[in-house]
Amino acid sequence: MKTYKIALIKGDGIGPEIIDEATKVLDAVASCYDFDFKYTEVLMGGCAYDITGDPLPQDTVRTALSSDAVLFGAIGGDKWDILPREKRPESGLLRFRKELGVYANLRPAVVYDELINASSLKPTVIEGVDLMVVRELIGGIYFGEPKGRDENKGYNTMVYTRSEIVRIAHHAFKIAMERKKRVCSIDKANVLDVSQLWREVVEEVSVEYPEVELTHMYVDNAAMQLVRDPKQFDVMLTGNIFGDILSDEASMLCGSIGLLPSASIGDKIGVYEPIHGSAPDIAGQGIANPIATISSASMMLRYALGEIEAANKIDAAIKKVLKEGYRTQDLAQYDAKEVCSTSEIGSIIANYTAK
Ligand code: IPM
Ligand code: MG
Repeated sequence: MKTYKIALIKGDGIGPEIIDEATKVLDAVASCYDFDFKYTEVLMGGCAYDITGDPLPQDTVRTALSSDAVLFGAIGGDKWDILPREKRPESGLLRFRKELGVYANLRPAVVYDELINASSLKPTVIEGVDLMVVRELIGGIYFGEPKGRDENKGYNTMVYTRSEIVRIAHHAFKIAMERKKRVCSIDKANVLDVSQLWREVVEEVSVEYPEVELTHMYVDNAAMQLVRDPKQFDVMLTGNIFGDILSDEASMLCGSIGLLPSASIGDKIGVYEPIHGSAPDIAGQGIANPIATISSASMMLRYALGEIEAANKIDAAIKKVLKEGYRTQDLAQYDAKEVCSTSEIGSIIANYTAK
């Protein structure tokens, strides 16, 4: 029997509720195989600040680094918005990503046929959408120096080095090789020097992947194309801030941001988290959609633990639940047969997973 060590970061807002459903489903799938999970809960975000004065206690990084993977809920909330930047929950998350070196953030956007009416776009436009945003996560304008502000001026620097671009480009091409073999690299090379280098280096790396078709697109056009004809995309390779924006946009193709998972991968251990935030407005009411987190747990099985069959089992259970018309509140208007609470839908998915 193999025991996987999972660091659990529940975080703030709806984080604890959605993580509880993900571990319920993980334990259900483990019951079908010869492995189980040992969870260690650690603090990050506003709750960590409240208890320790630091949104990222060192113990959290230590525990994460000695685990097989990190499963992460969500952090942040209005309550902590008044704090100085380095004490804010978001700063804890950025430091965490940096310390773990998770440079590649994978954000798949797959439209579930069962929810085709939930998107704000026409079914003909989104039917069959299956794309992957590959976002560089520990560089770019989020981390560039110099940065600062005083009363009259605020500034950040968008910087990428050749080696940072090479690393993320390889990751994107490798993923494309397993998919439809198309990479669209998104930049703003008509205006930004940093993007010009990005484009040149991505071209250089592409030579090693002759089977993959590479195209380039300016980010403003990409934002437009994503709602005009999203099916044209397979892998979208982008820097940190463009990927942040485009992945939120891509999520709405699928009907609810409560559905989309992500994986953040580097050379050490990976972090698996829903792409949505902590939704403090609905926290504690039992109405959050846990599917994005359950789906992130499935990505963890697939990418970090190599338990592909178990991951497929969870994905199939999610599909079945949606097909049968079980919906959380966010999707209640779309072909719902039964509106469920967070824990009810988690339990149904867990039951189907264990079968
Ligand atoms: C995300 C979030 C984070 C980001 C915030 C919370 C720092 O929006 O993971 O997309 O901007 O990366
Ligand atoms: Mg974001």
